[in-house]
Amino acid sequence: MCGIVAYIGKKEAYPIIVKGLKRLEYRGYDSAGIALLNNGELNTYKKQGKVANLEDFTKDKDCSGHVGIGHTRWATHGPPNDVNAHPHASENGNITLVHNGIIENYNSIRQQLESKGYVFKSDTDTEVLCYLIYDIKTNTGVKLGKATRLALQQVVGAYAIVVMCKDEPNKIVVARKSSPLVVGIGKENDFYVASDATPIVEYTKQVVYLNDDEIAVLNKEKGMKLFNIDEDQKEPYIEELELRLEAIEKEGYEHFMLKEIHEQPRSIKDCFRGRLNAEKGWVSLGGIKDYEQKMIKANRIIMIACGTSWHAGLVGEYLFEDLARINVEVEYASEFRYRNPIINENDIVIAISQSGETADTLAALELAKSKGATILGICNVVGSSISRITDAGSYTHAGPEIGVASTKAFTAQVTVLTLMALYLAKLKGTISETKFRTMLSELEAIPQKVQQILDKNEGIKLIAKQYKNASNALYLGRGSSFPVALEGALKLKEISYIHAEGYPAAEMKHGPIALIDEEMPVFVIATSGPSYEKVVSNIQEVKARKGKLIAVVTEGDEQVHSIADNTIEIPDTDEHLVPLLATIPFQLLSYHIAVMRNCNVDQPRNLAKSVTVE
Ligand code: AGP
Repeated sequence: MCGIVAYIGKKEAYPIIVKGLKRLEYRGYDSAGIALLNNGELNTYKKQGKVANLEDFTKDKDCSGHVGIGHTRWATHGPPNDVNAHPHASENGNITLVHNGIIENYNSIRQQLESKGYVFKSDTDTEVLCYLIYDIKTNTGVKLGKATRLALQQVVGAYAIVVMCKDEPNKIVVARKSSPLVVGIGKENDFYVASDATPIVEYTKQVVYLNDDEIAVLNKEKGMKLFNIDEDQKEPYIEELELRLEAIEKEGYEHFMLKEIHEQPRSIKDCFRGRLNAEKGWVSLGGIKDYEQKMIKANRIIMIACGTSWHAGLVGEYLFEDLARINVEVEYASEFRYRNPIINENDIVIAISQSGETADTLAALELAKSKGATILGICNVVGSSISRITDAGSYTHAGPEIGVASTKAFTAQVTVLTLMALYLAKLKGTISETKFRTMLSELEAIPQKVQQILDKNEGIKLIAKQYKNASNALYLGRGSSFPVALEGALKLKEISYIHAEGYPAAEMKHGPIALIDEEMPVFVIATSGPSYEKVVSNIQEVKARKGKLIAVVTEGDEQVHSIADNTIEIPDTDEHLVPLLATIPFQLLSYHIAVMRNCNVDQPRNLAKSVTVE
């Protein structure tokens, strides 16, 4: 999972590329590099570490040039170091390129090229592609665009690439298969290329999202020419970007994660905007309208996802089954794709993915499609790979989520799933009009209730301080709060590096209770509802063994207040909507604990925002 930025036009390329790479560091940040073409000279600089390292390294170097390519890496082949950093160049440095993805048959291509006498400098699959393009161009005399296309026809795997050549300084060549690439159209025949729109949006709102097996030649004199890999030229589809630059910056918060936690009243409202009207009593999901009959008649709905998105799917299971009486199975995409699942044309498969680029989820979806299932998507990134291969779907409209730990995307996913469950329940007549209207009103009130919880930030920070040195933690919940317990544990694990596990509260007596002692903080969701009394007895089991107990309760609760070491009150709401509220305290607790432990909250060690490798 890497970040690519490139520019060709009349401006100086260096500042555009470096600023853009910083915007893409969430996609990977173990090394970075840039190549600039200036008066026939190709200057390439690359360094292990973050883009700031590259900036320091290039301070006294020649960084002039009106065409350049840049890259920030998350290692897949070869350890993070200067040599393996991109851009990679051909033997004589004539051709250079950056790449996001994995070339699966790079070994066989490398052997083929080594037999011709080529000597490789790095361990990467990317360098192999560069030499292959060079070899074809040198031996056939074709132009860069055609040489790149011929090379890619030999490649098996995923790629988003930008290629530059000293002999053809007025152009860059871009191509895409399974890894995202966006071309921004400048006003003076200049072009901005990036892995997503965030490095482009301040320069132009006219963009072309490349599709799989497309290749484009961006010429600063002749403009853009788009082809598919089999050489047919095609008309580029230019879209208007909706992204706002300020949506990207931290807007005064210390970390993107904190900003995104506090954005949730807005992001949840944006998610149901135009899709819900409590007063008139309707839910409308235009994205899946053509498939509503298929969904209500489906013998089952399979939800596939990874990580936090998988937790959202688990909440969806409770909602779809309880409200719409539709059988739902929730699968880890990485398991689903390899276990030869039984899928047929009667199945509906819903992929849930913030980035829309997660390799396992994409592959599981492609498997379901190949077996005739109807495939739908719930994504946050417009134009992402998953959103482009699905038959239909609903965007979560949460806005860019830069923090690696997912927060607003999770509540937006749960909001979409709630809307879908209500929509289908209404169509099937499995929900009374009264219950339907009540839930719509309650859903409309969620953003302000989320705000009420966010206003308790300082009190939650004080609780976090008590547990910042814990070595382990347990999270417990029942019903649709069980996935929230899993999500709370994941948040703590991935940003504070404290080991944490989520369990159904009733599971404690089947083993985990052996872990309880005075060193073990146990976070429990004990909100009012049908399972409240049972959760209270679980809490008493924990306290009997001297466990530290932090409970999320409904405002006005007294019983749990008298037992727990700490309580965090959340506003009352319909039991089906509790996940949207109960997750907020856990997001804030994990954030503050991680900050107190001096962890890198936005870019935790070993993680990347979207895992586009398997
Ligand atoms: C969430 O905090 C994690 N960063 C991770 O589990 C993430 O949810 C997972 O990789 C799935 O990503 P996606 O939603 O973009 O597919």
